Amino acid sequence: MNDTARPPGPNETARGGSPGVAPKPGPNDPVGWNLLPESATVDDWGHLHVGGVDVVELARERGTPLFVYDEDHLRARCREARDAWGDGVAYATKAFLCLAMARLAHEEGLCLDVSTGGELHVALAAGVPAGRLVLHGNNKSILELAAALQAGVGRIVVDSFDEIDRLERLTDPRVSPLDGPLRPRVLVRVTPGVEVHTHEFVRTGQLDSKFGFGVASGDAAAAIARLQGLERAGRLELVGVHAHLGSQVFALAPFAEAVDVLATFVAPLELPELVVGGGLGVAYVAGEEAPSLASWASSVREACTAAGVAPSVRVTAEPGRSIVATAGLTLYTVGTVKDVAGFRTYVAVDGGMSDNPRPVLYGSGYETFLPREVAATRPRAIRLVGKHCETGDVVVSEGWVPEDLMVGDVVATPVTGAYGYSMASNYNKVPRPEVVFVAGGQARTVVRRETLDDLLRLDVP
Ligand code: LLP
Repeated sequence: MNDTARPPGPNETARGGSPGVAPKPGPNDPVGWNLLPESATVDDWGHLHVGGVDVVELARERGTPLFVYDEDHLRARCREARDAWGDGVAYATKAFLCLAMARLAHEEGLCLDVSTGGELHVALAAGVPAGRLVLHGNNKSILELAAALQAGVGRIVVDSFDEIDRLERLTDPRVSPLDGPLRPRVLVRVTPGVEVHTHEFVRTGQLDSKFGFGVASGDAAAAIARLQGLERAGRLELVGVHAHLGSQVFALAPFAEAVDVLATFVAPLELPELVVGGGLGVAYVAGEEAPSLASWASSVREACTAAGVAPSVRVTAEPGRSIVATAGLTLYTVGTVKDVAGFRTYVAVDGGMSDNPRPVLYGSGYETFLPREVAATRPRAIRLVGKHCETGDVVVSEGWVPEDLMVGDVVATPVTGAYGYSMASNYNKVPRPEVVFVAGGQARTVVRRETLDDLLRLDVP
């Protein structure tokens, strides 16, 4: 159905940035500047500074593993998204959420996409007005829906017939436990049958999917008919259609194809909103290049015009990764260097799959470098591994570092701002790292490091 549906060749997958097969960074070159946060500079000693802060010093002061985010970079990406898409564009909080991030995205004019009651709770606790929130989820419980309705969330993206049943009950003044009248604005999530060329675990627009209502099966039309019935009864307002194709998508053509499908609902029903989800890819390793937020938006807009979507329709998106990924990097300390004769050198750090499960889950590739000599060439091939009790606990499968890497060094992996901390765990009872925002020569803790006692806080003695 589209040119991304064919199986990728080996290089193509790498250049396409699929999380499926990690491309190999080249030996010898220093880490690419495009993979570092925008404020990155190098001082006279060769140290990397981000936000005006020497990250080697920062690691020594705060300890490792440490997530470091360039706050100006985060703000710049939010503004770029807002400028490109206009009001209504939402930051997908699943990529990285804490109070500070929720506030930052809100301050920069973005709505927030929350996909569980937990994300909703954090966004509300951050002081984001409920009207600026969009609730997602393929299995929203009645309690999650009730909490969202009571708070007055701006949009609910409806995903199943069971959810429509729940909304019907919650908005019925005769049986609803909630104080009414409630008239939520809803969108319908459809699966347009557009397959994208990315790891199968993060592909969502294909027909065989747990998400949304299939267009080809007629489910999308049936869902819309039911919602229109509820609209006529004054119980909700159907404002638009939504599709999310997948994540870490580099090609823009699939978004245009999705627009073609979404337009078949928006135009005849005169719906005022069309949302193309998130999914814009980012470069993780040398050789990858991703479209900007601005070019993504303009290509979707062009597709909307071509598909006959009226200019008055609010066309928006929900970027997650493309807002936060490159703004963040992870600092670790090297604990052991083990040369396994005839095979490779294993460099073990003080974190691993508990702070970045992406390599294990999706085979994702990352780069690695020494922040004490960020511009140095990296002739030495290593495998960067964590401290967890499994062979699969790999952070960077094919990494390159300067020759003089040694135990005690601070080593960094760039582009860890998305789906790193948000997917972190306490596996092996490893406390989760601290998260700092750096800007203007200052570092501020936005999430403190877990303590050993934190590891006991849920246990019932
Ligand atoms: N909207 C919806 C409905 C989504 O499901 C997602 C991501 C987004 C927006 C944001 O997508 P983004 O712009 O971040 O690609 N853990 C995986 C990624 C899972 C994405 C899930 N949904 C990873 O680490 O690659």
